Order: sequence, then C-alpha cells, then structure tokens
Amino acid sequence: MTAALNQVSGPAYTRIYSYGAARGENAVPNDDLVGPIDSSDEWIRQRTGIVTRVRADKDTDAIDLAAAAAAEAIEKSGVPADQVDLVIVATISNPKQTPSVSAIVADRVGANPAAAYDVNAACAGYAYAVTQADALIKAGAARYALVIGTEKLSDIVDPTDRSISFLLGDGAGAALIGPSDVPGIAPAVWGSDGSKADAVGMNSTLTEFRDGEVPWPTLRQEGQTVFRWAVWEMAKVAREALDKAGVEPADIAAFIPHQANMRIIDEFAKQLGLPESTVIARDIETTGNTSAASIPLASHRLMAERPELSGGLALQIGFGAGLVFAAQVVVLP
Ligand SMILES: CC(C)(COP(=O)(O)OP(=O)(O)OC[C@H]1O[C@@H](n2cnc3c(N)ncnc32)[C@H](O)[C@@H]1OP(=O)(O)O)[C@@H](O)C(=O)NCCC(=O)NCCS
Repeated sequence: MTAALNQVSGPAYTRIYSYGAARGENAVPNDDLVGPIDSSDEWIRQRTGIVTRVRADKDTDAIDLAAAAAAEAIEKSGVPADQVDLVIVATISNPKQTPSVSAIVADRVGANPAAAYDVNAACAGYAYAVTQADALIKAGAARYALVIGTEKLSDIVDPTDRSISFLLGDGAGAALIGPSDVPGIAPAVWGSDGSKADAVGMNSTLTEFRDGEVPWPTLRQEGQTVFRWAVWEMAKVAREALDKAGVEPADIAAFIPHQANMRIIDEFAKQLGLPESTVIARDIETTGNTSAASIPLASHRLMAERPELSGGLALQIGFGAGLVFAAQVVVLP
C-alpha cells in the first residue's frame, strides 16, 4: 500500500502589511524628450497627463530598485526579514534573462533562502503576483511573501519612438503579504488575450540583434488599440473584481489602476461610477508609466499622502503586454 502523504494548509485569510518604494533618481520633464519625436510638452500633458517621469541613473538597475523598495516594505511591516519565505518579483526589465531578480533581491534583503521567482506579466505583473502570494500563503506553501514590481524601462526605450517611449519611467514598489484574521485580499479577476500579442511589446528579438539584423530591441505599441481595449474591456474587469469581492463602488476608498494614461484612469472612474469620495491614484503625472511597478508605487504614495485611507478598501487593476490583466480589491495596510 502506498504511504499517505502529509498535507499542509495555511491561514484562511491574508492581507497587505506594508508598502515600500524606490523611484528613479532623475525627474525627466516632457521638454527633455520631445525633440526626437516631434512632440510637445502640451501634447504629452493633454494626451497622457504626464508632466515629468522618473528615470534611474545609468548604474542603477531593476534589481537595485527592487531591493530598495523591498527593504522599506520589510522594515515597515515589522516582520523579520529572515521570516520572509517567498519573494515574487514582477518585471519585464531584468538586466539578464537569468538568473532571476527575485533570488538576488531575497539575498540582499536578508530573506535568503526564501523561495524566489520572477513573473513576466508586464503591467499586470504586480496584481498577478499578489494573486499568487495570497493563494500560496493560504495553501501553506509560504507564510510571509514579498511581492515586488520593478522596472528600468529607460533601458528598453527608443528616444525616437513616438508610440510609447515618452510614457515610460523607472522604479519599484513592494508589498509585504502575510496571514490575517479577517479577509484582506479578495479573489482576483485575471486573464489574457494572446491574440493581441502584437499590440504592445518588444519590437524584435535578442537573436535578431545578435545577428546585426536590427538595432537594440525596444518597446513599441499600437497606442489606440491598447487604449480602446483598456477603456472598454478593463472597465468590465474592474467591475467584475468588485462583484467577486462582494462590494459596491461606494465601498471603495481608493482606486489604484495601472498608471498607463490619465485619460484611461478618468474613463475608468466614470464607467465604474465611483463616488466623489473615492481617492484616485494619479501617480502617473510625476512618475510616468512604470509597468509592473506602477500599482505598488501609486499605493505607496497614496498611503504617504493620505494616511487616513489605512484600513480602507482599494480596487487595483493592472493590464498590459500579453495582453494580460488582473484586478482585485485589497484592504490598505
Ligand atoms: C500612446 C497614446 C498616448 C497616444 O495618444 P492618442 O490620443 O491615442 O494618439 P493617436 O495615436 O490617436 O494620435 C493622435 C495624433 O497625435 C499624433 N501623435 C502620435 N504620437 C504623438 C506624439 N508622441 N507626440 C505628438 N503627436 C503624436 C498622431 O500623429 C496623430 O496626429 P493626427 O491627428 O494629425 O493624425 C495613447 O494611445 C495611449 O496612452 N495608449 C495606451 C497606452 C497604454 O495603456 N499602454 C499599456 C501598455 S503599458
């Protein structure tokens, strides 16, 4: 007879304990970028809401940004670093395809030998990773998880490209997630549509670059395709996330969408029927679009500027290259 295998299970609920953040060292105004793309400060402000974006120094990479954000989240959480047993990093800008950012960051912040892996889900990566951390803790596979979104997108932009380059910034945001007595993370609505894989992503492969066929690969997008998809499909996803959490728009203290474009954020808020009292994250104005880092960076800033939101409900939604999306309601730490 086969021996029965031991099983484990975890706590019934999880919650976010704390946030950490690290932004690129330099504020880059629109005027610094408009020359090579025949654009203007006015056009970028009107079409995107961006006034300046943060970009990192040449010697700062996505690992450095992630480690700094993670260290702050650990310190604020009160959880000893050596008790963090899971590190999930969402990124599309690891300087190397392997090893992972997460294993290096786990070691740097004192969480070695935590389980560590990276998630490639672009601008939905942080919300994907929160979904995974919540599920893995409830399953008993980990107790305290660090979830980090980190990007150094300035290394993969083409300054002459007017489709996306001017949108992008560098930074990292982190959340420490652990057991809770009451529900702190609601079920996610997540998914993908690979039939639209060409709408946003890298414009060529590394082997094409190696063979001298193309210049350094950079990010490109069909702006209008992504814009329409975001406004029509993602508003539905956000509404579904409210339904799954069992809450109404009026219950939401903060709305923290991926910081892709201020017009998309405004359109979401209108379609969702959020009340005036809901605080809407608008970190894009001075940070730009930092892909996987954008939701935790915006969350960190909201908590610093509006501490009274602590304990309130936030609706977060990420969406981007894949195409992929994920949304859920969380209790703010
Ligand atoms: C990229 C984006 C800002 C472009 O804005 P838009 O309003 O869709 O702009 P359009 O492509 O319709 O172009 C409108 C006009 O501006 C011009 N234009 C396009 N890019 C420009 C730029 N960077 N600077 C100045 N003018 C520009 C176009 O040539 C066009 O001119 P025309 O009317 O004379 O033909 C917008 O589509 C967007 O934010 N898309 C979604 C981004 C996103 O969510 N990405 C997710 C992945 S991170």
